[in-house]
Amino acid sequence: MKKNEYELPSIEQARKRDKNRAAIERGLFEIPDECRNIGYGRKYYLRTYGCQANQRDSETIAGILDELAYTASDNINEADLILLNTCAIRKNAEDKVFGEIGALKKLKRENPDLIIAVSGCMAQEEGVVNKLLAQYPQVDLIFGTHNIYNLPKLLFEALMAKEKVVEVFSKQGEIYESLPTTRFLKHKAWVNIAYGCDKFCTYCIVPYTRGKERSRLVEDIVSEVRQLVDEGYKEVCLLGQNVNAYGRDLKLENGFATLLEEVAKTGIDRVRFMTSHPWNFDDETIDVIAKYPNIMPYIHLPLQSGNDEILRRMNRRYTKEDYLKLFDKLKAKIKNCAFTTDIIVGFPNESDEAFKDTLDVVDYCKFDNAFTFIFSPREGTPAYSMEDSISAEVKEERLQILNAKVAEYALMHNKAFEGQVVEVLVDGESKRNKKVYSGYTKENKLVNFTGKNVNVGDLVNVKITKAMSFSLNGELVEE
Ligand code: 5AD
Ligand code: SF4
Repeated sequence: MKKNEYELPSIEQARKRDKNRAAIERGLFEIPDECRNIGYGRKYYLRTYGCQANQRDSETIAGILDELAYTASDNINEADLILLNTCAIRKNAEDKVFGEIGALKKLKRENPDLIIAVSGCMAQEEGVVNKLLAQYPQVDLIFGTHNIYNLPKLLFEALMAKEKVVEVFSKQGEIYESLPTTRFLKHKAWVNIAYGCDKFCTYCIVPYTRGKERSRLVEDIVSEVRQLVDEGYKEVCLLGQNVNAYGRDLKLENGFATLLEEVAKTGIDRVRFMTSHPWNFDDETIDVIAKYPNIMPYIHLPLQSGNDEILRRMNRRYTKEDYLKLFDKLKAKIKNCAFTTDIIVGFPNESDEAFKDTLDVVDYCKFDNAFTFIFSPREGTPAYSMEDSISAEVKEERLQILNAKVAEYALMHNKAFEGQVVEVLVDGESKRNKKVYSGYTKENKLVNFTGKNVNVGDLVNVKITKAMSFSLNGELVEE
């Protein structure tokens, strides 16, 4: 294949939006005869970067590779196929991946038959793909977030024809149902409810890499959850860039509230959802969360900034006052609800006063935790070319100040759990200590605890003995 025949990404194209409802593709996935069993006797190593949407995509990639008779491996050195499913949200996420690909050169030299593939949000970026083509000859295959269904064919071309293969569609996107899936966990599952994003926050690359906002049908989502219940899953997390906007493209009234209620009614032990946008959070949804005990009392509500001028330039569509009003309402209606948030410091020309407004909101809301970031300019987004006179040192200093505040409130909330007995869904042995188990409370607090005869997926009672800022220690309460 010659270079000009590649399907390359285009930011211009990715920016477009039409009013049409997204097509639902149910029969698109197929394994052409020549691709059958191309993975037989071959091992793949899949590394996922970034958010839950990417984790879920990786489960689809794994599902397809399993259908092609590949075997999964967690040893990169023995893999015949290495896939990096990448994240583009900030530059440091990308730098990490470029470093990783650089290091793979050695493996490729030792094994010229090795296939190295790059997928995910970075593959949707024009600049990244051009850089990969020009400077990273070890990469054999690049495919985008809209091209996963076509992996058998793309892999076949890369493997058999020994050509570099690039297929990245910059389209608004379809909804792919019935793609194979190998779930990584057996007790909690990610369930996509909507893809893409139409919010176009001025700093964010996601609307370009993942296409327009498009919702799956309620019946498809609910039947997926029912099946998960049948398979013994204890928890589902409903995924969308803006779950609160769910169903708007389907012209559903109160789409997310209706969906959430239907999912709660399946009887699954725990329902979570991610991510909420303050702009679309309606009263109906709040009432449903408050009504069903199996909807977890935990809301991730990105603030980004507490300053109205910055929020306006971010195109967030709410003011500080709107955010606080919503926060108060959620807190009043949902009993013992935990709140986390995302905050960006150092947005172009963020003044000291503007930063202080953000700190004021943190002081008011006293979040259980916050994910904090220094603004990272993303090529193709409006904020990329905004004038910025704030130095890197000032931004770093603001991040430290904010993080100290966040840790203080996190500890305050966690301290309140000391001495209490909480329900924990067990994830397994703790990463650091094999004699210790770990899992999450309903409020999404990480608990490390001692105990006997504990299995992954158990819902157990744990007495909290000690609180740290970002985790709790405890002991199993024997029944
Ligand atoms: N720079 C820094 N942080 C960003 N985020 C998104 N885009 C950027 C960027 N360009 C953060 C936001 C978002 C979270 C997932 O990542 O806070 O909520
Ligand atoms: Fe990005 Fe804003 Fe969409 Fe979230 S809502 S994915 S921050 S554009």
